[in-house]
This record gives sequence, C-alpha cells and structure tokens, in this order.
Amino acid sequence: MNDFTCVVFISGTGSNLRAILEAIEKGALAGVKVAAVIADVDAPGLSFARDRGIPAHVVPLADYSTREDWNRALVDCTAHYAPDLVVLAGFMRLLGAPMLEAFRGRIINTHPALLPAFPGAHGVRDALNYGVKVTGATVIDVDEGVDTGAIIDQRALTIRPGESEEELHERIKVIEREMLVDVIARRARNE
Ligand code: GRF
Repeated sequence: MNDFTCVVFISGTGSNLRAILEAIEKGALAGVKVAAVIADVDAPGLSFARDRGIPAHVVPLADYSTREDWNRALVDCTAHYAPDLVVLAGFMRLLGAPMLEAFRGRIINTHPALLPAFPGAHGVRDALNYGVKVTGATVIDVDEGVDTGAIIDQRALTIRPGESEEELHERIKVIEREMLVDVIARRARNE
C-alpha cells in the first residue's frame, strides 16, 4: 500500500501532532506517514518532529511583506512533500488563497468547540463565557472563512460546574486528539 502522506501545521505545544505520530508508531494509522511539520513560529511541538528525524520548518509570517507572499512560501514548502492531506493541528493563523487553491479539499483543521458555535481563536473561553453546558471539538474541511468549512466530525463533552478554561481545554484536547486520528485514518482509507 502506498503511503498516505500528511504535512502537519502547528503553532503550539503539538499534542495533536504527538497523538498522530504515536498512532503511527503503534500501527493505528496504517499507511499514514507524516512527511513534514510546518509552523509559523518556533513552536515547542516541533520537537516531536525533530526527535523523530521528520523535517520541521518554521515559516514566520513576519518574514514576508504580504500574507500572499507568506502563503506562497507555505505552498512551496508543503508541495515539496506532495501531501495527500494537510492537517492544521493547532495552527493559529488563517490560510489564504494560494494555500487553499493549491490544496483545495485536502486541508483539514481541528477546533476546540462545537462549530458553528464559537469559531475563532478562543473557542473554549467563548463557550464557557456564554454558559453552554455542552461543548467539544470539531474537525472541518478548511475554506476561506474562519472555521466555516464543512464539518467532518464532532465529539461532545459536558462542562463541569466551576471548571476553568484550562481544565476544560485539557479535557477537550483528549477527545480532539482521538477524533483527529480517526479522521486521518478514514481519509487514508478513502472513506
Ligand atoms: C487545540 O485545542 C486546537 O484545536 C487549538 O489549539 C489546541 C492546540 O493544541 N486551536 P496542541 O498544540 O496540539 O497541543
């Protein structure tokens, strides 16, 4: 079976990236390969790639005069690995037309809320502040909007009374990681 090649984009601690890599190592993602990891900052999570000898690239927006140029640099860096799927796993920036056109239908994103509720950078905080009793995580196909793409999968959990944003986010990340690995497995099986 040919490898199903992923390029993973991150900005932060990379626990979703680590879950993908560990699932591959355990044999739970048959045929899936992470060919490279790309970040917009020198993210701590890049160490999960570097420790395994997976190419890790930092492509900072600030190094480019326009977002368009930055997107073109991301396309060049990503296309080098000819990915079947680009996985935004805690990547905290919006992609623009060059990336979307180059990889249309092949970019997924994970978000820590039940979309279409609470899109944007503070999905966990916004859900808590609103006072909803149930929240969760969503994996979407990426389009031009902010967390507006078609929903691929969702997992829900009940918010505990008095729970802090950090506590809730940690619990969401547990179900989010499982879901993201499942979605990649299904894509790799062409489901
Ligand atoms: C995830 O909850 C993701 O949905 C959100 O930021 C978190 C990233 O976590 N945008 P990590 O960097 O994978 O640990």
